[in-house]
Amino acid sequence: MNITITRTTTPKVKPDQNKLGFGKHFTDHMFLMDYNKEQGWHDPRIVPFADISLSPACAVFHYAQEMFEGMKAYKSPDGRNLLFRPMKNIERMNNTNERLCIPQVDPEFTLKAIKELIKVDEDWIPVDDGKSLYIRPFIIATDPFLGVHPSASYLFCIILSPVGAYYAEGINPVKIYVEDEYVRAVKGGTGFAKTGGNYAASLRAQEKAEKLGYTQVLWLDGIHHEYIDEVGAMNVFFLIDGELITPQLEGNILPGVTRDSVINLARSMGVKVSERRLSIKEVVAAAEAGKLEEAFGSGTAAVISPMGELNVEGKKIIINEGKIGALSQKLYDTLTGIQWGKIKDEFGWSVEID
Ligand code: COI
Repeated sequence: MNITITRTTTPKVKPDQNKLGFGKHFTDHMFLMDYNKEQGWHDPRIVPFADISLSPACAVFHYAQEMFEGMKAYKSPDGRNLLFRPMKNIERMNNTNERLCIPQVDPEFTLKAIKELIKVDEDWIPVDDGKSLYIRPFIIATDPFLGVHPSASYLFCIILSPVGAYYAEGINPVKIYVEDEYVRAVKGGTGFAKTGGNYAASLRAQEKAEKLGYTQVLWLDGIHHEYIDEVGAMNVFFLIDGELITPQLEGNILPGVTRDSVINLARSMGVKVSERRLSIKEVVAAAEAGKLEEAFGSGTAAVISPMGELNVEGKKIIINEGKIGALSQKLYDTLTGIQWGKIKDEFGWSVEID
């Protein structure tokens, strides 16, 4: 399929790179592609970034049949434009599609669409340290029909946003509230899928945590309220007595690309990494025994975000004196070094946009 390109005649003034924040600014163009039963995916096009007109009866507005992804493009010091393990995101995209009854996308074509769009908006990739171009592909159900049924038509869209740090704290440790009332997901649900409903269901707890002065919530499993699932918009890691532990993938947490990369990087550094069930009791006991060394969240948006404090039922656990730990820092430096093309990529993760 050929992607048609219509360029804007009114390019926007680019935002100050020092005031980007996260997800507030959008580039000049977007990618669109339609789906219907007769034609499948068709009419791929890059057009000026603009509002989308849809029937108020569209399935996505009522029953949230939609999926999204998050990835980034990085500008290397020698001027190359890099993606980080994009096929992992595209693979996950199709896993989400499968769970949400959304038609599969062609992985190679999707990568081509992402690359073509970035090439058109190349001068939006920030060059300053730590800044990148966030890529947000998403698919929405567009049938104007109020019955609860998979849509017969869809719109695939990709938008781009120049970003700085996801959290105002940047790489400084964030405070986390361990949520004991609400749950995010249960096995058999949509926890492993990247779909808006999971995030809608998280907002009440997030709001509660923010009112109490915390940046994010840590989710416990939906059945026992005991095992750690993930943190807000990130996967989570705990370094306890030299063992780096992250919850295993059982269908209720997001299989993060950054999570997988951290596991591989840590193992390559000789760290013992375990993917297993980890109860909040074990974390509290480790903290009391002086064995909770570090904790951090991982995600595309936040990269690696150290956790400096956990609130467990009102009890405050301070981790590594509220400072970033040595392993978290090393993983952050190595991961971002590879992503921005500053250090040798021994894993073959970087993909150049050429
Ligand atoms: C990401 O890390 O890319 C995410 O999608 C998390 C969040 C912004 C929803």
